[in-house]
Amino acid sequence: MLAENYTQEIEAILAKYPSDQKRSAVMPLLFLAQREYGTLTNEAITEVGELIGLQTTEVASLVGFYSLYHDRPGGKYRIQVCTDLPCALKGAQAFADELCEKLDIEMGETTPDGQVTIEQVMCLAACDRAPLFQLQGPNGFRYHEDQSIGSAMALIESLRVRGQVDRAHRLTAS
Ligand code: FES
Repeated sequence: MLAENYTQEIEAILAKYPSDQKRSAVMPLLFLAQREYGTLTNEAITEVGELIGLQTTEVASLVGFYSLYHDRPGGKYRIQVCTDLPCALKGAQAFADELCEKLDIEMGETTPDGQVTIEQVMCLAACDRAPLFQLQGPNGFRYHEDQSIGSAMALIESLRVRGQVDRAHRLTAS
């Protein structure tokens, strides 16, 4: 339970907000929950809501809106392609579909090696640079704009190689 395992951290987060606006702490509390559980399950969302007096549905709507929160498990890397209308008009949907086809997965699925999940997201505020995606991974996130299938697959290949190198380093160190 967050309340028991992160008492001090939660108090520090809540202390940043006026006593009558503790609900505003929902965002950092969600990040804390995601860090702890990996995924924001219904139980995790309810737990966050209970800390600040919000309904589960209110917290869940935030999780659904922000692409940095994850309510389902994914791979080590999440490639989130903007397929909102302006980008779709520049071929983003076809790009996303072809990327899934190349990786032999459906939209929202993860490659069998557990490395890459492909997801669709709404506007990333770079509409003139489509096709584009944000890449989320252990080291934060980055935008990749003006993409082609070739450039995206090259990036995915480099992430996979990096994953193998990281794994080899861990094995050598242990
Ligand atoms: S619609 Fe895709 S970045 Fe704005």
